[in-house]
Amino acid sequence: MTSKALDEIKIGGLGSSRKRVEDERFIRGKGNYLDDVTLPGMLHMEILRSPLPHARIKSIDTSRAWEIPGVHLVMTGEMMATRNLAWMPTLSYDTQAVLATDKVRFQGQEVACVIADDPYIAKDACEAIEVDYEPLPVIVNPEQAQADGAPIIRDDKDGQAGNVIYDWEVGDPAATDRAFAQADVVSKLELHYPRSHPSPIECCGSVADFNRATSKLTVYMTTQAPHIIRAAVAMVAELPEHLIRIVSPDIGGGFGNKVPVYPGYVMSILASILLERPVKWIEDKTGNLISTGFARDVYLKGEMALRKDGKILGVRMHTDADHGAFFSDAQPSKFKIGLMHSAFAAYDIPAAHLTARGVYTNKAPGGVAYRCSFRVTEAMFFQERMIQEAANDLGMDQAAFRRMNFVADDDFPHRTPFGFLTDSGQYAKCLDVGLKAIDYDKFRDEQKEARKRGRLLGLGISTMTEPLGAGNSREYDILGIKMFDSADLKVHMTGKAILRTGAKSQGQGHETTWAQIVAHELGIPAADVTVEEGDTDTAPFGMGTYASRSTPVAGAAVAMVSRKIRAKARKLAAHLLEVSEEDIEWELGRFYVRSAPDRGVTIQECAMAAYSNMPDGLEPGLENTAYYDPPNLTWPFAVYIVTVEVDPVTGVWDVLKTVAVDDCGVRINPVIVEGQIMGGLTEAYAMASMQFITFDADGNCVGSNYMDYLLPSAWETPGFELHSEVVTPCPHHPLGAKGIGECAAVGGPAAFVNAVMDALGGTGVRNIDMPLLPDRVWEALTNHHDVSGAPPIRQD
Ligand code: CDP
Repeated sequence: MTSKALDEIKIGGLGSSRKRVEDERFIRGKGNYLDDVTLPGMLHMEILRSPLPHARIKSIDTSRAWEIPGVHLVMTGEMMATRNLAWMPTLSYDTQAVLATDKVRFQGQEVACVIADDPYIAKDACEAIEVDYEPLPVIVNPEQAQADGAPIIRDDKDGQAGNVIYDWEVGDPAATDRAFAQADVVSKLELHYPRSHPSPIECCGSVADFNRATSKLTVYMTTQAPHIIRAAVAMVAELPEHLIRIVSPDIGGGFGNKVPVYPGYVMSILASILLERPVKWIEDKTGNLISTGFARDVYLKGEMALRKDGKILGVRMHTDADHGAFFSDAQPSKFKIGLMHSAFAAYDIPAAHLTARGVYTNKAPGGVAYRCSFRVTEAMFFQERMIQEAANDLGMDQAAFRRMNFVADDDFPHRTPFGFLTDSGQYAKCLDVGLKAIDYDKFRDEQKEARKRGRLLGLGISTMTEPLGAGNSREYDILGIKMFDSADLKVHMTGKAILRTGAKSQGQGHETTWAQIVAHELGIPAADVTVEEGDTDTAPFGMGTYASRSTPVAGAAVAMVSRKIRAKARKLAAHLLEVSEEDIEWELGRFYVRSAPDRGVTIQECAMAAYSNMPDGLEPGLENTAYYDPPNLTWPFAVYIVTVEVDPVTGVWDVLKTVAVDDCGVRINPVIVEGQIMGGLTEAYAMASMQFITFDADGNCVGSNYMDYLLPSAWETPGFELHSEVVTPCPHHPLGAKGIGECAAVGGPAAFVNAVMDALGGTGVRNIDMPLLPDRVWEALTNHHDVSGAPPIRQD
């Protein structure tokens, strides 16, 4: 290690595996989560949810609930309507019922709420509310939604003739047709990426506190994007934005679940305004699993035009997306199906065409970016499943087929067939590292030998680059608000500092890593930098944290604001050293005179001078703000390779080894990066093997508790071998960093599924839809057919 790198490690700078500072309070039980917020005079809110997925509301009788001692308020949709709050806009330019007025449209929809002295009284009072429902036919998948005579779910919307929300397309259909006309082989695949729930340990909730005397509304809230919420509250509730303060305290996991605006937030705010008392709402686990922010639920089909030597000539893809009853995805406005069209970005494919259709069904709103950059998980899953099937159809080796079609190292910047610009990567090198780590050739030999003895071994590869770090602001906005981010740095007189950003950590360790960036740029030890996020009264405006955008955007803003501070500190140094600025050099934490390196001043001395000895004409103080609008997304690359053994008698499969090679450019904190990868791989394994939240034919949500919706514990989770040898700095990020938070969750599932499918090679089975529960694998093996598609789940 160079002495410069050592100096950096000493102060906890770039590349230091500094321990997470936030863990000091988390592991001592001193975190401040939403349920820890208790205000004087606080009341509690509970929500009555619909037991039926589709029904007309004939009447709601709240009289018995009002009579229960301790009840302060009972709200229904009718009452919300008198304040024009029965419906709210969604982040995708649709509308969503806050409390149902005309119909309920999914099981678990909000029908009424009660505010009482404690949550138990409020829950009892909810049960005393009588709702008379007239059941309506139920739709649980896109096929039913588009069938002739299907009931119209959104009959509240003028001109809504059916259940289709949008049709969207991207790519070049004519060039794609030409590619298919030239193909020697056409490979096809159809699959369902099932609905899943991000399922953070902490549920969603809010504590709304309206102060009539000051007209100020403070809302403590589990949100990943406090400033977007402030803007939404200002617009929906027509309250002055400067009198709204959103505080997002410690968050117990978000994974995209805490980006949308939920009815519960709106109700607690209105209740606080009406009662002039703080009102707390926090979901129970079933409430969270049944009603908030589902993800995925897309049906994907496509085909690949191939030359016999293995060259991919073109790709066609179609997606039917099940959005549930309200189109409330939090995603860039321009892209109806998120960044689905980032598919195949790692491969050099001349032509591609994607069509997408979104439909309403009788399910809770879906489409949140569950640990992904707006549908890239579905895109990469389809991509890597398709690549495996195409290689098999050609009779080519999986690794060789990928290597042959990768974008080459010297082919950057590369325009993908769907129009993205990827800018850097060493794809083949990453694959080589992965193959060596799994001992590819040896495993293939063992696989052949094992097969002879009836043992089913399989190896699955997933290789992908994904777009992380929206904006740029030219193309990316949510509700017209451009996607950039911010950092605000105040260096105090003694050289200690406070940094605030527009991002909001939910466990990713920003308090640790942002301070490392300041240390790297200014030489102030990371331990001397406090990082604060999540309070709209103090943090600079930003778009929050999701889609692994923090490091690419807010992290870049931290570097930029530090550089602004350094530029001013240079003027102070010149003044203190009595030389002109041009004669000053910088090294980590210190300015010195070029011609006399021993004559220097530290950054801390400059900070003191900013408040006590500034030159004439220089504004006092050492603080600044930077807004960063990235020129492009960052494009990390990853190789995930998994080996498995499938038991032919039971369909149970065990992971033998998992290898991950992630190239996320420069790593700010290597240990945090590894934690992100391990977490992502665990979620990938969960999706592939057990996480199943679905619906029966009657629209009942199956999986609304942890008895049915399985999350892997440490016991089930396999071990992972991580590799960090390949580092391709991002050419436009000030530190060369690329996002990492979600890569493994995005790319991982295909590696597990490909491994099981590889073990089943030769049986004629082309696809088993996730999760690959043992009974599905057994059915495919025994009956030699695909096991695809859900919901509805089978009734037999
Ligand atoms: O947006 P989110 O925080 O979920 O994802 P991210 O930007 O990929 O960062 C996740 C965590 O990994 C943060 O604490 C980052 O600072 C850290 N990280 C890093 O140390 N080096 C990178 N190249 C990327 C992320």
